Amino acid sequence: MDLKAKDLLEKLKIEHSLSTDEYEYLLANRDEELMDLAAGYAREFQKQHYGNKVYIRGLIEFTNFCRNDCIYCGIRRDNMNCERYRLSAQTIIDCANQGYELGFRTIVLQGGEDYTYSDDMLCDIISAIKSSHEDMVITLSIGERSKESYQKYYDAGARRYLLRHETANPELYRKLHPAEMSWHNRMECLKNLKEIGYQTGAGFMVESPGQTSYDLAMDLKFIEEFKPDMCGIGPFISHKDTPFANENSGTLDTTLFCLSLIRMIYPEVLLPATTALGTINPKGRELGILAGANVVMPNLSPTDVRRMYTLYDNKICTGEEAAECLGCLGSRMESIGYKIVTDPGNRAGFN
Ligand code: 5AD
Ligand code: FES
Repeated sequence: MDLKAKDLLEKLKIEHSLSTDEYEYLLANRDEELMDLAAGYAREFQKQHYGNKVYIRGLIEFTNFCRNDCIYCGIRRDNMNCERYRLSAQTIIDCANQGYELGFRTIVLQGGEDYTYSDDMLCDIISAIKSSHEDMVITLSIGERSKESYQKYYDAGARRYLLRHETANPELYRKLHPAEMSWHNRMECLKNLKEIGYQTGAGFMVESPGQTSYDLAMDLKFIEEFKPDMCGIGPFISHKDTPFANENSGTLDTTLFCLSLIRMIYPEVLLPATTALGTINPKGRELGILAGANVVMPNLSPTDVRRMYTLYDNKICTGEEAAECLGCLGSRMESIGYKIVTDPGNRAGFN
């Protein structure tokens, strides 16, 4: 193990802060021993704040129409091979009810940026779910909208919002997105969400095309400074119908190491072991939990549309990650010493 890297890790454990150069040094000098050490420290913080609990969120992917054209994404506007669908308000509400029956107390309404769903329509859906299940926490993940719209959803009862920043480097952002998309606007949205009072989730892709270890270090620094309540990260995975079809996908090890560092940077953070992690490795989500993650998000979308929400190739959607299979997920978590719990799972210390 590189001794300087070890010292930096010890410093991070105590101070929860490093310079961007120091994060880069850690990323560039990781070996198996350093990863194990980081994962051990990450689990200490995870245990301290969350015990052996793993929180579950039911993910409802309600539309794959998207006005955006992110270069990496399988449901980008220009992908003519993508079979599109939209769920009706009633189907979304039915899905949420089903989730409640299954034991979920948090659902995530996720979709492409699809303005067919007006503010009024979204607010009606949120209110309808809240009126039948007061204790259901509603998380939105529907991209960039105005602060006024975000406020309306909050007033209707939504309390969490996921909006990955994708990369903290504006120059890399420009290479991953078409010219009409703005890194500054995305950052502004994140700030607005926090100001309104949402538990706010940021996050990034690991080893996206062109990403350097300094870029990744910038993401870690951003997490340290912005302190999102939640942080969703996963490896970039190529999609055959995008301009990045032939790019290499991100690796399990870099993603696991980033998870451990994020837990050490912000011990209270809600950190999912994501579907992308479960896609690149059959044990990806268990390994994610062992690296410091404490959330999993089973798929609760109607089964007939699941295969259409293909952000990247081979996205898992019909196996044990599905919401109907909570039993299997539970046993998987038990096999590594954790247990899934149904309480809403706020970020430790959030009030
Ligand atoms: N590989 C990995 N993650 C992806 N996302 C979109 N496309 C890909 C891909 N090809 C992620 C983005 C987005 C989230 C919904 O899915 O980070 O924010
Ligand atoms: Fe932007 Fe899918 S089009 S993430």
